[in-house]
Amino acid sequence: METVVSGIRPTGRLHLGNYLGAVQNFVRMQYEHNCFFFIADYHALTTQSGASNLKENVKNILVEYLACGLDPEAAALYVQSSLPETAELYLILNMNAYLGELTRCTSFKEKARKQEENINAGLLTYPTLMAADILIHKATKVPVGKDQEQHLEMTRNFANRFNKMYNVDFFPEPFSYNFGSQSVKIPGLDGSTKMGKSENRDNSIYLSDSPDTVRKKVMRAVTDTGPVKKNQPKTQAVENLFIIMKAVSKVEVYDYFQEKYNQCEIKYSEMKKQLAEDIITFTEQIREKIISISSDDAYLNRILKEGTDKAHASANNTMKEIRSIIGLSEI
Ligand code: TRP
Repeated sequence: METVVSGIRPTGRLHLGNYLGAVQNFVRMQYEHNCFFFIADYHALTTQSGASNLKENVKNILVEYLACGLDPEAAALYVQSSLPETAELYLILNMNAYLGELTRCTSFKEKARKQEENINAGLLTYPTLMAADILIHKATKVPVGKDQEQHLEMTRNFANRFNKMYNVDFFPEPFSYNFGSQSVKIPGLDGSTKMGKSENRDNSIYLSDSPDTVRKKVMRAVTDTGPVKKNQPKTQAVENLFIIMKAVSKVEVYDYFQEKYNQCEIKYSEMKKQLAEDIITFTEQIREKIISISSDDAYLNRILKEGTDKAHASANNTMKEIRSIIGLSEI
């Protein structure tokens, strides 16, 4: 049994790619490990420069996590800002985080480029906050994608540096948890290889999308003019539809359209119609749960209270020891 931590920034709704790529694996992990899954609302502040619908976004993620099968009895579900110990550890780690390593971080450079008018200190210290999220529970496993690998490496550096500075063997090293073949990378509907929204596009199917929205989005998905010779290699856009189909449709359906493609007899509109219906069926239960859970604020608050209590117990322990190691006030 290991301690697992993962956070998600509340910047939008969960899409099919989130579900098949990460959340489904959280659901599997929660019964095998000591899991903390939180909503990173502090992190969301690094990229916003004013009022937003933060609270609503946080609620949506919580509702959707629960609808996907995260079990509050098994995992601790909480909101980052209800754990002040994280902010405290962030402050401490920042004392030993060097400007050079923070400015060299790829995600900082990227975001600084995107928001030239708002290169704030929170953005610079995003990795120390993330390290605090992980180290506050002394986690060893962090289920995140490749894009977070550098942050994890920095977390290990911060952890080791702390141990060395104070001559203790306190923080363990956290490593990313790769699901290997169990994890499916879902591409977008616009021909790009990743589902998700960026500044100027949204190629996603959200778990909360109504059946009609799903149909519209799938019917508008990018394809090509069709194969002209047998067994022709697929363009990325068409390959994408097949990848999604493989994840949500029956094998026979997938094989049928593969064969049609290989024989140059495929009608993309027929394939899209089938794909849309299969996505709708695949996500039906989740969609229904999203609707029923989101109207039950009492339940949601109870879940958060329980999750926060569990997280507090763990975080408190860590902070007590850190205060003693460093020689900070313990009163
Ligand atoms: N940086 C992560 C992301 O953008 C979110 C995150 C914040 C996180 N704190 C974390 C992930 C701690 C894992 C562990 O996806």
